[in-house]
Amino acid sequence: METPTVLSLDGQIVPWEQGTVHVTSAAFKYGASVFEGLRGYWNQTDQQLYVFRAPEHLHRLEYSQRFHRFDTIYDAATVSSHMVDLLRAMDCRSNVHIVTTAYLKGGANPGVTGPVGLAITAVERAAPDWVKNGVSAQVSSWMRVPDQAMPMRVKTTANYNNGRLAALQATADGYDAPLMLNARGKLSEGPGMCFIMIRGGKAVMPSITNDILESITRETIIQILREDMSIEVIERDIDRSELVAAEEAFFCGTAWEVTPITSIDRLKIGNGQPGPLTRQLQKHYFGICDGSITKHAEWRLPIHDHRA
Ligand SMILES: Cc1ncc(COP(=O)(O)O)c(C=O)c1O
Repeated sequence: METPTVLSLDGQIVPWEQGTVHVTSAAFKYGASVFEGLRGYWNQTDQQLYVFRAPEHLHRLEYSQRFHRFDTIYDAATVSSHMVDLLRAMDCRSNVHIVTTAYLKGGANPGVTGPVGLAITAVERAAPDWVKNGVSAQVSSWMRVPDQAMPMRVKTTANYNNGRLAALQATADGYDAPLMLNARGKLSEGPGMCFIMIRGGKAVMPSITNDILESITRETIIQILREDMSIEVIERDIDRSELVAAEEAFFCGTAWEVTPITSIDRLKIGNGQPGPLTRQLQKHYFGICDGSITKHAEWRLPIHDHRA
């Protein structure tokens, strides 16, 4: 995976090395920045890069900026146009992970707002082994920050220190990923992904009032499960003690895509292998993302212009 040569800064394509912020900025000192991670999927037959659910992500970026009372807001259409410019300038022809960040450039104290910057990066991203083999999860002793303290539904950079501590603990203890409980002791999510389990043939997941991000992948999967796979979906509280009763479990998110969970706290989920329904869902999800399944064209933003 090579470091790209360029990125987009305030709508200008600049050399990678120029992607810097000042040490006195509120973005650096307080994590006063909001972001979105998106995926671009390369389709060899179509010779096309499709960015998955771009408007939904970029509207959420707008919402995050509004929530943080930024003086000026980078709207979804503007960010989308800068993102397309970057991907075309880079002539991206492989799967990429795109990050769009709106951040406070100045500000000497935590109360201030001020000039807002926009950075967009796109880095090549190959499919990780965990999507194929699954991961081991640990129920973390780090609690998910509750909405009264820092809303997890807003994609604020500072939020991610909570999940980072849980991820560090999981790694130190020999697990692949953490699962966090919220202040009520109910399951919330992982550091950058949502949780779904299959129990009694139904898909069960924490509802959006369990201190989780309102994940676009989660919503996509709910729709696929209901409409394409005729699986009943239930959004409700999940207790820790219920986890190993699951027949199958998986993480989902833009970065984690659909990643099987094969054990939790060293107790096997199902037979300890990625489950059949998870496998079927993965196949369908990736097909929709890269356009090899033509359904849901409205979810794919084509980047390269073939009209010439
Ligand atoms: C904390 C958290 N939960 C869930 C997700 C999944 O959200 P989405 O599907 O919108 O990428 C993410 C995002 O990447 C995340 O950071």
